[in-house]
Amino acid sequence: MGDQKRIVKVCEGPACTKNMARYTVERASNDIRNKKIKDIDIQRCPCQGNCESGPTIVVMQGEKETRHSHMTPLEISRLLDTIQNDNSRRKK
Ligand code: FES
Repeated sequence: MGDQKRIVKVCEGPACTKNMARYTVERASNDIRNKKIKDIDIQRCPCQGNCESGPTIVVMQGEKETRHSHMTPLEISRLLDTIQNDNSRRKK
């Protein structure tokens, strides 16, 4: 099955920062801590060239990258739930 660990990178470029990226990171970090999620890491990253559609998030699993736009704190919480459910299904 391979490594299920995923890295969620939140853009901290100027446009995303103006659009609540900081709160998106806080929400993600709180969710990971409160839900005891072990297979997702949150990182910050520089501008992803998607400024008009930020906050931008890039989900990495191995070599695969998926970009998500307009990621509010609520949206990242939903995304983390989806990733976690997907990882749980793969482990069964
Ligand atoms: S500042 Fe986030 S994509 Fe450019």
